[in-house]
Amino acid sequence: LHQSNATLVHIRDKTIKLWKISERDKRAEGYNLKDEDGRLRDPFRITTLRVPVLMPMDLMVEASPRRIFANAHTYHINSISVNSDYETYLSADDLRINLWHLEITDRSFNIVDIKPANMEELTEVITAAECHPHQCNVFVYSSSKGTIRLCDMRAAALCDRHSKFFEEPEDPSSRSFFSEIISSISDVKFSHSGRYMMTRDYLSVKVWDLNMENRPVETYQVHEYLRSKLCSLYENDCIFDKFECCWNGSDSAIMTGSYNNFFRMFDRNTRRDITLEASRENSKPRAMLKPRKVCTGGKRKKDEISVDSLDFNKKILHTAWHPKENVIAVAATNNLYIFQDKIN
Ligand SMILES: *[C@@H]1O[C@H](CO)[C@@H](O)[C@H](O)[C@H]1NC(C)=O
Ligand SMILES: *[C@@H]1O[C@H](CO)[C@@H](O)[C@H](O)[C@H]1NC(C)=O
Repeated sequence: LHQSNATLVHIRDKTIKLWKISERDKRAEGYNLKDEDGRLRDPFRITTLRVPVLMPMDLMVEASPRRIFANAHTYHINSISVNSDYETYLSADDLRINLWHLEITDRSFNIVDIKPANMEELTEVITAAECHPHQCNVFVYSSSKGTIRLCDMRAAALCDRHSKFFEEPEDPSSRSFFSEIISSISDVKFSHSGRYMMTRDYLSVKVWDLNMENRPVETYQVHEYLRSKLCSLYENDCIFDKFECCWNGSDSAIMTGSYNNFFRMFDRNTRRDITLEASRENSKPRAMLKPRKVCTGGKRKKDEISVDSLDFNKKILHTAWHPKENVIAVAATNNLYIFQDKIN
């Protein structure tokens, strides 16, 4: 769900592609130089001219590749973000961020480079990056150490020095072998207003005020019951899963994914949260989604699911919220679910 319905940028490994997305519900008929099936007509048999007419047809959505931006990344790209000027965009990999012009495919400017001269000194990688929704000189990037840097492209061409540095001090009492892994940020998203940003780490979602760098203003637990399972989640590599997060149109609700095809929504005003499930077995088309609950120790109530029976192969990493309506898209492995607010 992109701001512009005409274009979409797609990542594949180290190459970026720009696509044009268009809808067609009419077809021209009655050409002079070719038959209805597209074959050219013999020019000597064309004796009259006719005006082609547009005939209605079933709606068709077409995606056509327009540009390919290649050869600028050595490592896998983790983010692309179109700038608010709609002329430039940035792409980020583990160690570098590049700035591109949408019309120029063979050149980009390197704006962040954290590659140390000696790769053995590498302690941190870039995990996500995004342009500010209104100020085209501002962008943020997050790191595997759980920090976020806000940079201003007006300050210098190479933004190795940040303007703001967001980090929550670690609570020494909860320190463990997994602390650094679970604090790695898998996604960062500015609010539509541009005042806040949201980050997702392994167990939580945090909302930061851009004017306060020393701690988030809100923290939401996504699946706190997994804290006691980190050892097995490390062994099966799930601890490295990269969950995305998104805002709703008015920035008053946030959504992110979890395991067992569950996804979570948090209402920032009422502080209420809900767990929903995207599955074919439990949701028929047009049926209402029932809230789900995970039971953490003690007696399991009816309709609750215990932590030990969660399926960690079913995970919702990608989620998107329509910019103006209550329509959401949730990608559960190889299924895409689209849910919509109840229509009265
Ligand atoms: C989106 O599509 C509508 C018509 O379907 C068009 O008028 C509008 O300009 C498009 N928006 C963009 C940003 O391309
Ligand atoms: C955003 O969330 C609020 C609930 O906090 C809801 O009332 C509103 O309809 C949501 N969607 C949009 C598009 O604003």
